[in-house]
Amino acid sequence: MMVRIPGVFLFLLVMTWSFLTGPSVHAGKILVFPVDGSHWVNMNLMIQSLHSRGHEVTVVRTSTSWYVKERSPHYRSITVTLPQANLIEEEDFFLNFLVKMLEIKRHGASPVVFVKFYWEMLTALSKIHKDGSLLVEEIFENRTLLQSMQDAQFDVVLLDPGVPVGVLVANKLKLPMVFNVKWITSGEGHFVAAPSPTSYVPTSGYTVTDKMTFLERVKNNLFYVFNTWIDKLIVCSHYDRLMDKYFGPDVKFYHLLQGADIWLMRVDFVFEFPRPTMPNIFYIGGFQCKPSKPLPTELEEFVQSSGEHGFILMSLGTLIKALPSEITSEIAAAFAQLPQKVIWRHAGQRPNNLGNNTLLVKWMPQNDLLGHPKIKAFVAHGGNNGIYESIYHGVPIISIPLMFDQFENALRLEVRGAAKLVDVAKLTRQNFLEAVREVLNDPSYRNNMKRLSALHRDQPMHPLDTAVFWTEFVMRHKGAAHLRTESYKMPWYSYHSVDVLCFLLAALITLTAAVVGSIRFICLRLYRRRKLKHE
Ligand SMILES: *[C@@H]1O[C@H](CO)[C@@H](O)[C@H](O)[C@H]1NC(C)=O
Ligand SMILES: *[C@@H]1O[C@H](CO)[C@@H](O)[C@H](O)[C@H]1NC(C)=O
Repeated sequence: MMVRIPGVFLFLLVMTWSFLTGPSVHAGKILVFPVDGSHWVNMNLMIQSLHSRGHEVTVVRTSTSWYVKERSPHYRSITVTLPQANLIEEEDFFLNFLVKMLEIKRHGASPVVFVKFYWEMLTALSKIHKDGSLLVEEIFENRTLLQSMQDAQFDVVLLDPGVPVGVLVANKLKLPMVFNVKWITSGEGHFVAAPSPTSYVPTSGYTVTDKMTFLERVKNNLFYVFNTWIDKLIVCSHYDRLMDKYFGPDVKFYHLLQGADIWLMRVDFVFEFPRPTMPNIFYIGGFQCKPSKPLPTELEEFVQSSGEHGFILMSLGTLIKALPSEITSEIAAAFAQLPQKVIWRHAGQRPNNLGNNTLLVKWMPQNDLLGHPKIKAFVAHGGNNGIYESIYHGVPIISIPLMFDQFENALRLEVRGAAKLVDVAKLTRQNFLEAVREVLNDPSYRNNMKRLSALHRDQPMHPLDTAVFWTEFVMRHKGAAHLRTESYKMPWYSYHSVDVLCFLLAALITLTAAVVGSIRFICLRLYRRRKLKHE
């Protein structure tokens, strides 16, 4: 029997092949400034891809990095030791944060508790960027290091501007910048790169769709102002201090950030709401997605034992090791009532009411499980990576958002009918079981996710290839100035044409006054003349 290869697939294959074998750049030199934690997973993938294309990659890390290893077959590293590490203890910090947030959500909070909670968050944010600014200082003050970076003659700086250390170093070394970005310091990256009308573009941190009521638009604007000021006061103050010292008083930190040659956005409009964009923004959402591989034998046996019912996957990401035990025990009880098998990534204490259909694992090949034909649903916190993998494989989600953008992400999938939301603060075995059963039994969830998947996969080039292409483009042409606007350097009143409006308004008023004045003058003269005649 002939295997039919759909035309689109063949086209894709040819495109990818010609891209992979096509004219390559000279092997280039890339300096990388990653952000630690889950962002590193993304960056590392891009590094591996660039390495396999023959480029030499150098990664700048601190001696206290959690994830960024000193040695790797794919990159060389430069390790900088900070004089006083302010580092947050990752695991405890986020768990404490979650526990406090749950407490506030469940039992309400006095203004004092709420303000204290918020203050702690802002302090942590400030600490992260203080460390960032210290890292910059450490590099700039170390003549040997800075000189060696200069001598290395890098072609491009690839960086994650979540912590914008690389922005300052790239500008010091006068190198073009490529961002691997979703977040910048003040929120979603588009907000400083492209026009962002707050009338229909939801602000980071505010969980609404792009169809807002009047009141929601008011709130959306307030959120925008709030984000901007938090960024100015808490984050940018650390970098502004360095600007005066190393770049002179006329250079603004934000202008350096906005001067990136290419923004590789970890966004796909299959998932995000449509919004204005710019010619130097390219979309690489889901660039980590790939076909699944066969499972390890024991896991495959467990999955196969589910029979016709199939299995469910649960993972709340790497940041939170485990939910509080009273919640995990509710979840365990709900799972135990399902005919499906469950694979649950869980590093905390084993719930004692765990059903015999549930397998606890410390780690799992998530992508391979999501791509397995027997999977029925994914219980997830709604982090970006998991969502894109789920979209790629067309698996509907039961979302339990915990922090950051996870609430907004969950909403985006919910309005597309591809996910069901469960509030972790109100989670009981009944409502959780209902949510899971609804997603399992109502075929619309799966169908909607399949549709998103088909849309997401139908692109001329895999997003990872897009990312590599534009990085090499910048290396070939020493930047991409022709795609970049410098409108951000205009004063606000010019940018929004307030000065032009004022001028035109003044001209209109003058003209109107002149016309009215002339008419009055003429009328008056006519009147007088007539009066004279009568007398
Ligand atoms: C400066 O950088 C070099 C090379 O990375 C390193 O060996 C040296 O210890 C650094 N000096 C200081 C004072 O940190
Ligand atoms: C799970 O436990 C129940 C009750 O103890 C039992 O009836 C059932 O056969 C068990 N299922 C499996 C797959 O072991």
